[in-house]
Amino acid sequence: MWDALKARAEASEGLRIADLLYADRVRDFAVEACGLRFDYSKTTLDAEAREILLGICEAADLPARRDAMFTGKPINETEGRAVLHTALRNLSGDPVEVGGVDVMPEVLETLSLMEAFATAVRDGSAAGQGGRITDVVNIGIGGSDLGPAMAVQALAPYHDGPRCHFVSNVDAAHVADILRPLDPETTLVIVASKTFTTIETMTNAATAKAWMAEVVHAPGEQFAALSTAKAKTAEFGIPEDRVFGFADWVGGRYSMWGPIGLSLMIAIGPEAFRAFLRGAEAMDRHFRSAEPLENMPVMLALVGLWHNQGCGHATRAVLPYEQRLARLPAYLQQLEMESNGKRVAMDGTTLPVPSGPVVWGEPGTNGQHAFYQLIHQGTRVIPCEFMVGAEGHEEDLRHQHALLIANCLAQAEALMRGRSFEEAKGLLGAKFDGAELERQARHRVFPGNRPSTMLLYPKLTPEVLGQIVALYEHRVFVEGVCLGINSFDQWGVELGKELAKALEPVVTGEEDAEDKDASTLTLVSWLRAHR
Ligand code: F6P
Repeated sequence: MWDALKARAEASEGLRIADLLYADRVRDFAVEACGLRFDYSKTTLDAEAREILLGICEAADLPARRDAMFTGKPINETEGRAVLHTALRNLSGDPVEVGGVDVMPEVLETLSLMEAFATAVRDGSAAGQGGRITDVVNIGIGGSDLGPAMAVQALAPYHDGPRCHFVSNVDAAHVADILRPLDPETTLVIVASKTFTTIETMTNAATAKAWMAEVVHAPGEQFAALSTAKAKTAEFGIPEDRVFGFADWVGGRYSMWGPIGLSLMIAIGPEAFRAFLRGAEAMDRHFRSAEPLENMPVMLALVGLWHNQGCGHATRAVLPYEQRLARLPAYLQQLEMESNGKRVAMDGTTLPVPSGPVVWGEPGTNGQHAFYQLIHQGTRVIPCEFMVGAEGHEEDLRHQHALLIANCLAQAEALMRGRSFEEAKGLLGAKFDGAELERQARHRVFPGNRPSTMLLYPKLTPEVLGQIVALYEHRVFVEGVCLGINSFDQWGVELGKELAKALEPVVTGEEDAEDKDASTLTLVSWLRAHR
């Protein structure tokens, strides 16, 4: 199957996207669902390639794998766990069983506990020593940071609660810069860690506790914890009624729908948080029921497989024309690269094709003035995933939103059309002639035929954000199933963590490390000499 895909990709190298763009293609190479439109007409993916990709899905038993996920089967085989972040947004409450037990009563109970706490923080009944909570600091990293940090920024127009801040890096600069302007007497610190062992989070949490303890008599009372490890949260001194737990079937990078989303819930309120969940739930229903060709996550995944495993484009740029989605590329980096950055299949065999792609990006239009040069004229082809809303929130600045949309569409058009040598010469004709005209024109040629997709949405509301994030989650799932990998473990992060633990006493000079390689030893001794 993969060979057929690669052969098809090779055969389509000569295709010009612009030539493929007949009216029906615009209809047939797009999907509408949940009020979103995903258009992949500006790619070289044609009907034949799509058939091959659909065959890959079929061979991978996608519908059965999808049902296994939604129904709580232990599809995270290397850790023997179910994968049920979708249960966290299953507002219908329909039973979802893990090992014969319906998890929904507990999920909904936790949601209402979170809501009660968030409401109390917002209305001032859960106050700090100095009165109403003005600032919330979420301390967490990876999946315990990126989701809520991204969403809090994305939904800024809906904020009507305390200010939210995020500390993730073990670099003391991060925690110091965030805490410095805050008043410990009116600050709530949320320690977000599934395991409650992550070194960065535990170090920052201890720093924040010491900072608070300088003025607050009972600092534990101004802490909350989001974790699966209740014994550890108690040991840290956080009262039990401020600990919001979740099960091991919620992966870190899929966890913002439950307790890890508490900071978001405090910022926008329980009702808007439910709208966020409802958006994701709608995308779940769509993913579970739509036929592959009409299934947005499936088609987004197949376009990804076409570009990476088929055409060999190793990276993809995610380009939201929405400043408030500035953290979305970082969020998707973890979601996609921690999930599908695997070199072996579930059965331990080496993958016959590249693993998931490098994901990167920045909001437009900023990126246009930075790295788009390479996307337009560099030697590598970088598939671009644009996204833009029909409307912004700034009613009085609608003209700016129109300009934003125009830029987004123009970039996709420019990537596809390019500019020929003849056109470039024509533009320069009056200025140069002869060999100089040819030389100057060559610099102004755009090869074009560069693929891009477009995700359109009405407006970035909580519901729409939920839909977009769930769309990408399921896209990652589909790509993982087609590759035959486990998208839900992350063994690749372990080795570095172990070595860092062993190196810390070497850096501080408490231990020597003769067993280290010459390069590491030299780096350590230089740093020690300069500390
Ligand atoms: O870096 C690996 C990782 O386990 C991520 O998958 C996870 O999101 C992050 O660390 C944080 O883990 P925890 O929530 O347990 O602190």
